[in-house]
Amino acid sequence: MGEERIISPELENMQEERLENSLRPKNLDEYIGQDKVKENMKIYIKSAKKRKEPLDHCLFYGPPGLGKTTLASIIAHEMKSNIKITSGPAIEKPGDLAGLLTNLSEFDVLFIDEIHRLSKSVEEILYPALEDFTLDIVIGKGPSSRSIRLDLPKFTLIGATTKAGSLTTPLRDRFGIIHRLELYSVEDLAKIVKRSSKILEVEIEEEASKEIARRSRGTPRVANRLLKRVRDYAVVLGDGSITLKIAKHALNKLEIDELGLDEIDRKILETMIVQYGGKPVGIEALAATVGEELDTIEDVYEPYLIQIGFIARTLRGRVVLPPAYKHLGY
Ligand code: ADE
Repeated sequence: MGEERIISPELENMQEERLENSLRPKNLDEYIGQDKVKENMKIYIKSAKKRKEPLDHCLFYGPPGLGKTTLASIIAHEMKSNIKITSGPAIEKPGDLAGLLTNLSEFDVLFIDEIHRLSKSVEEILYPALEDFTLDIVIGKGPSSRSIRLDLPKFTLIGATTKAGSLTTPLRDRFGIIHRLELYSVEDLAKIVKRSSKILEVEIEEEASKEIARRSRGTPRVANRLLKRVRDYAVVLGDGSITLKIAKHALNKLEIDELGLDEIDRKILETMIVQYGGKPVGIEALAATVGEELDTIEDVYEPYLIQIGFIARTLRGRVVLPPAYKHLGY
């Protein structure tokens, strides 16, 4: 009798995460792409180490899946320090942040993902922590309350956000190093696919890695996810090695087209062409018609559609461009 195994969504997520972790590069030389960021960070890290000072606070922004968390872990590794990973929404109260900060050791990296989602009261205690490595704590309430100042270890904050524009100016101004991560080229994504295949111990044809790269919308996380799905097809339909033919077959089954567009990308473009007749449309109206969150369209879908020249942002709203009509057969 076969053994029944129930895999919960949480467990599946954990497995995905563990796999994503295993594919993550551990140092800057292993990290593919983002050459400008890498080059600059190498200098800043070397300088900080020579000066025996912590690295200046860093802010990385750009679309999801480009490796902001990976980069933060690499920086901590290169600085030979520890990293604590958290996110804006996870830090609910000032006390939560105070707890995190007082538990850091000298030169530790504190990574805050989605840093634009910190509440105002949390942000305010972050300012002196970033500037002077101090923490002001208010004890008690009313007339007898008093404030005490604690010294914190010298640490490095690395913030990540998909929405640099949503960061308050005082917070943004406290980062000495600010870098935008760019969507990856097909060549770099192909290198990432080949590197990941090696780690997963799957053979892959050169052309198959390029095919996956072309359809990964500039994003390593997407490339690694597609690689795993293509591998499933290779295991079931072939001998486990990924040929161009199997890659194409699998990607077509996943309804990812030659440019990496999925169902939702196509729905966005079709809505703009058919419902709005190609006229400028506001992002709110577009999100409502497509039935997706505004933030998801803005952060996840739009950057790639802009990059490939299918839509543009104008003062009057988003417009759909001729190559999109051609691609969809209008
Ligand atoms: N896996 C995910 N992102 C990567 C990158 N930038 N370089 C190498 N491997 C990766």
